Amino acid sequence: MSVIDPKDLVGMPAAEKRALLKKLLQEKAARSRLDLRAEADIAIPSFANVVDLDRSKRPRAIFLTGTTGFVGAFVLRELLDRTEAEIHCLARASDDQAARDRIERNLRAYGIWDDKFRHRIIPIAGDLANPSLGLPPTRLRYLEETIDVIYHVAAIVNLASRYALLKASNVDGTLRILELAANGRSKSLHYLSTYAVFDSIHNMNRTFVETAEPEQWKALSNGYAESKWVGETLVRRARERGLAASIYRVGWVIGHSETGAWNKSDFIPRLIRCCTQVGMGCSLGAMTLTPVDFLTTSLVTLSLDPQYLGRTFHLSNGRRYSSDDIFDWTRAFGYPLEKVPYEAWDSAVRALGHEVAVAPMLLFLEQAAGLDVRPSDWFSNEPSYDATLTLETLAREGIACPSPSSELMAVYLAHFIRAGYLEPPPQRAQGQAAASGSQPVSSPTSTGSETEGPW
Ligand SMILES: NC(=O)c1ccc[n+]([C@@H]2O[C@H](COP(=O)([O-])OP(=O)(O)OC[C@H]3O[C@@H](n4cnc5c(N)ncnc54)[C@H](OP(=O)(O)O)[C@@H]3O)[C@@H](O)[C@H]2O)c1
Repeated sequence: MSVIDPKDLVGMPAAEKRALLKKLLQEKAARSRLDLRAEADIAIPSFANVVDLDRSKRPRAIFLTGTTGFVGAFVLRELLDRTEAEIHCLARASDDQAARDRIERNLRAYGIWDDKFRHRIIPIAGDLANPSLGLPPTRLRYLEETIDVIYHVAAIVNLASRYALLKASNVDGTLRILELAANGRSKSLHYLSTYAVFDSIHNMNRTFVETAEPEQWKALSNGYAESKWVGETLVRRARERGLAASIYRVGWVIGHSETGAWNKSDFIPRLIRCCTQVGMGCSLGAMTLTPVDFLTTSLVTLSLDPQYLGRTFHLSNGRRYSSDDIFDWTRAFGYPLEKVPYEAWDSAVRALGHEVAVAPMLLFLEQAAGLDVRPSDWFSNEPSYDATLTLETLAREGIACPSPSSELMAVYLAHFIRAGYLEPPPQRAQGQAAASGSQPVSSPTSTGSETEGPW
């Protein structure tokens, strides 16, 4: 194993660092005993699926996972708006009432709760990581016989975790969802995947279209990518065995383009927060950005039209945005951000002294310091994703992906300021003080005030 003194990295040219990182990754991949192909080569059910097209279009009973999280909350709201179905929501909780409370609290926190939908939400206290989804046999059988369509959104989304810790929820849980799809009445499945399934060092700088299969399983960037690689592979295998399953891949999900509601625990909000606190940014590479409302409108529209069943979609606008773009937009809002070299930025952020979810960007130095974190340079070199087929399909449905811009960033920043997550930039703070004192900074499209929770 290469041993590197972190001090040697200071001043090292970027190209040399990248070459070194590539070597480290390859060494680590060679040492790894985890065989993802074998992980995905497990018995999966057979599907005698004859899809009831009318039930696909107008489902009466939907099974949905992930509604206590960010994306799942918006999928739930979209399904409530666009169908008349009862929506059975699996959520981790001590009992159904506690599951209901968690789901309702989450939707309220994102500003998307409406009492009129309460009776159509059927909470199910359960756990993807437990046998039979943690449900009594009679309840499971009832669902197998009742559900028309499954939307599997839930997963543990932790970029710093190991595969072994994510497997029970993200892999075994997906297998349990496939079993639910296979048993009882025929059901279609909509599975939320991620571009991270292509995120291998061997795929650096390549471009993947919707029909591409993520064959390369070695040297994926982290345990989360590995667990989703296996999860998606299981779903594709099930599709080959007759399941009517659609797969939706997405990169970084960003906030609602009109209200600004966004999971403050996500990586980009935390990045913006710590950069505005230290007044610095640095080059971190590029990423795809998908507003959550575009994601959910697209996913639900495609899922309710049987002609699209069984396909794979890429839900982004096909472009990658650099960290410089994000910092420019933040600066345009009034935050003074100086662009500094990575090392200076890294020291300043660490000196903040409180927990900041910047792990993916710090992986290189962590690895160099000998910590047990898998390194990655996917921010700089991650593959590109072509979404042409998806965007053409969505255009026919009248749906376009908003382009991230300084205007869109202003919606998010204003939202975070209203919610107390960010301090206003100096000029705006002065403006506020000069005005009535307690007026929130307004966003041109803001609709109300969310005060607590994940927003
Ligand atoms: N956010 C992104 O940028 C992004 C990008 C690409 C793909 N995705 C995909 O989008 C999906 C949702 O992501 P998100 O950002 O909404 O994540 P999130 O906010 O962390 O929500 C994850 C959801 O999954 C649930 N979950 C996790 N393990 C579970 C288990 N064992 N049993 C039952 N439920 C479980 C969580 O329940 P608890 O509340 O009980 O933890 C939560 O409801 C994931 O499949 C992820 O791979 C997200």
